[in-house]
Amino acid sequence: MNLKVTLLPGDGIGPEVTEAAVKVMQHTADKYDIQLELREELFGGCAYDKHGTPLTEQTLAACRESNAVFLGAVGGNQWDGLPQHLKPEAGLLKLRRELGLYANVRPARVFSSFVQSSSLKNEVVRDVDFVVMRELTGGIYFGAPRGVEADKGWNTMSYERHEVERIARKAFELARDRRGRVTSVDKANVLEVSQFWRNIVREVSRDYPSVALSHMYVDNAAMQIVRDPKQFDVILTSNLFGDILSDIAGMITGSLGMLPSASIGHSHALFEPVHGSAPDIAGKNIANPIAAISSVGMMFEHLFQMSKAAQVIERAIDNTLQQGYRTADIARPGDRVLSTTEMTSHILEQCEDLYNTEAIRVFTL
Ligand code: IPM
Ligand code: MN
Repeated sequence: MNLKVTLLPGDGIGPEVTEAAVKVMQHTADKYDIQLELREELFGGCAYDKHGTPLTEQTLAACRESNAVFLGAVGGNQWDGLPQHLKPEAGLLKLRRELGLYANVRPARVFSSFVQSSSLKNEVVRDVDFVVMRELTGGIYFGAPRGVEADKGWNTMSYERHEVERIARKAFELARDRRGRVTSVDKANVLEVSQFWRNIVREVSRDYPSVALSHMYVDNAAMQIVRDPKQFDVILTSNLFGDILSDIAGMITGSLGMLPSASIGHSHALFEPVHGSAPDIAGKNIANPIAAISSVGMMFEHLFQMSKAAQVIERAIDNTLQQGYRTADIARPGDRVLSTTEMTSHILEQCEDLYNTEAIRVFTL
């Protein structure tokens, strides 16, 4: 079997965490006899510096031609002053839109070895396991009209029926395979677009009788995520609300450096760590590679339904953390602080160990 992946290392720590991800990608592919074909392209600020645009036609074409895209991170202060459409972030939005990546999946799980690292109480975060299903190619991020003038700035939040239907289906399908609960988050007490969202989600829910649907206002949802995150299974929400809630969810798990994400469309998929490009620590070999490595697990799970491969990666990360190994961002007193490459080697060793145990060796494609 062949697997074509376009790598977009991007800016800041992006290249370092991508390198870590590639090692785990290659290791997993070897175990399952998958021929990995990697192609690397410029994307983000580095693409702007070279070509005057964050997303070139060549990069976009490479992404279209591959089975999956792996993205490190984009952005940095030096590009903040650029006009909106030339910023690295604009490249990311364009890429999502062009590839039709409408479903952004951001799991919030707490590694057992990591409960102490959350800023919330142990008993609140222990065993938290929910997923934010964020709509990614519509809503206020893309609505027209939009603009900015000296005395006025404006954007439009709108959703069409098909956009809400397809993301709602993704959420219900995911919940069906999990604990059977969808919480749709909106602001229907104020916004018409949210009333519409709620109606469509309710309609779609009739096709999924085994899934319990509830609705929550976004302000309350933000509060509930920190008050009692265990109540959630799948949170279904729009682009902007999902952006905010997934950062809140990220903190429950202790660090954004731990969180993977998948952005999925009809014919393309992109995998990336949730964290940003962290320019202040770029190039120092100290970035946390866990989110990137964990995103590789999501990639194999999504592309080949290889949930075992994803589990191996997750367990390898957990084992490594349990042994007290940490990168600087998540280190506590007494931990062994590792560099990016050392952490990656430890996780790889753990993967190898897991594949060599009886239980795992029987897994085949
Ligand atoms: C994210 C980021 C992006 C977003 C930015 C960089 C455009 O915050 O992936 O959550 O707002 O979607
Ligand atoms: Mn964000």
